[in-house]
Amino acid sequence: MSEQHYTKTAKVLHWLMAAIWIAAWFLGAAAVYMRDAWNPQHGLTFVHKALASTLLFLIVIRVAWRLTHAGPGLPDSMSPLMRRAAGLGHLALYAVALVGLPLSGWFWSSVAGKPIMVLGLFQLPPLTEPAKAYYDLAKQIHVVLAWGTGALVLGHVLVALKHHFVDRDGVLRGMLPGSSAPAGRA
Ligand code: HEM
Ligand code: HEM
Repeated sequence: MSEQHYTKTAKVLHWLMAAIWIAAWFLGAAAVYMRDAWNPQHGLTFVHKALASTLLFLIVIRVAWRLTHAGPGLPDSMSPLMRRAAGLGHLALYAVALVGLPLSGWFWSSVAGKPIMVLGLFQLPPLTEPAKAYYDLAKQIHVVLAWGTGALVLGHVLVALKHHFVDRDGVLRGMLPGSSAPAGRA
């Protein structure tokens, strides 16, 4: 039988990665759209890459943990269609927001010949030789994925809040620290 709430490790990984992801998103956007005011020496770009690149390591631990530890089931009140949508949504968050987007940033910096310093501590090896011909494409992929997954994450957060405040089921509580979802959330 699956548990009523996520394991402590799954919760820590979810909230740590969520905080990093959201901070990285706003840092990336600020680096581009506030370039003159806030990013004249590319300091924000450096911090954006230093922080976002940690997701590439954390996701390996997270997926390994998830594959060996089932999450809680969904509430009985959810229709089969909604369960399917929840599963696909989570899969998209993993595949596109947490793997595809950081990879696309890594690819972009690689073709640009720019270093990525993970947490400012060590450099990620480039994925390819610098390649000017791919610069525009790599940039476009990162920007499209950043905005697409921005919408996906916003939807994810709104659905979580709807579960909590409208449906009043245990879905959000199942991911909150220290609490277990009430019985009945099968
Ligand atoms: C290895 C990881 C990553 C690298 C190397 C990377 C690299 C970059 C670079 C070089 C820029 C342009 C900044 C500038 O022009 O000053 C950028 C922009 C951006 N990045 Fe990342 N990124 C990574 C991961 C992420 C992640 C995980 C997110 C989302 C949480 C993200 C969201 C953004 C956004 C929103 C922009 C602005 C896009 C726009 O032009 O509208 N990036 N990134
Ligand atoms: C304030 C922000 C957030 C809230 C309130 C939130 C809430 C939740 C909740 C309640 C669940 C459990 C769903 C269930 O029981 O089926 C969940 C799962 C998940 N969340 Fe979030 N989340 C947030 C941010 C994020 C971010 C930024 C990401 C990634 C970019 C993310 C990725 C995921 C993934 C991949 C799962 C599926 C976990 C699994 O079953 O393996 N979340 N989230």
